[in-house]
Amino acid sequence: MKNIAIFASGSGSNFQAIVDAVRSGDLAANIALLVCDQPGAFVIERARAANIPAFVFTAKEYWSKQEFEQEIIFQLRKHHVEWVVLAGYMRLIGPTLLQQYESRIVNIHPSLLPEFPGKDAIGQAIDAGAKWSGVTIHYVDEGMDTGPIIAQERTQLAADETRESLQRKIQSIEHKLYPAILQMLLTRGEVEQNEQTCIN
Ligand code: GAR
Repeated sequence: MKNIAIFASGSGSNFQAIVDAVRSGDLAANIALLVCDQPGAFVIERARAANIPAFVFTAKEYWSKQEFEQEIIFQLRKHHVEWVVLAGYMRLIGPTLLQQYESRIVNIHPSLLPEFPGKDAIGQAIDAGAKWSGVTIHYVDEGMDTGPIIAQERTQLAADETRESLQRKIQSIEHKLYPAILQMLLTRGEVEQNEQTCIN
């Protein structure tokens, strides 16, 4: 079973969905660590309630992104983390962390990328009068929501769609899609290995 760290900055409803999927057996992973850059975020309470260790930091207390990412890497190694799962982590990942976890950092974004990257993707879709939006899960590269796409699911906007109603639709997609895709990614090698065992 792979050790993962979840990075989050806010409420952590996706963090909770992943915790619940692990508990119910739908996701074969061990959540070894929460990394959070906002000391007041509700996700920290969720981690405490689930008995998951948290590394909470304030970026301003470090000289540079390189410096706090080195500290994050130290924490990830300490907890034997193999994959990094961004779930509402509102910070770009820098080269220091990307190099250490190449092709093992994934992110969820509340739009159909490449549409509406960056902050407030839901507000951007409403303001643009979009007919469709949705959720994207992708590998993380050095850009802002630009890495290779792994999965997308779309939802139609009603004529009277509001930011709140779209957020509800998007989050209900996210809470199912992220655990399912993580299960696929984290057990892929094992499935291949099992198939190999069967063939032999
Ligand atoms: C989620 O909708 C996630 O897709 C989004 O932040 C929200 C976090 O909600 N991420 C981004 O916008 C990243 N660019 P949560 O804290 O309730 O999981």
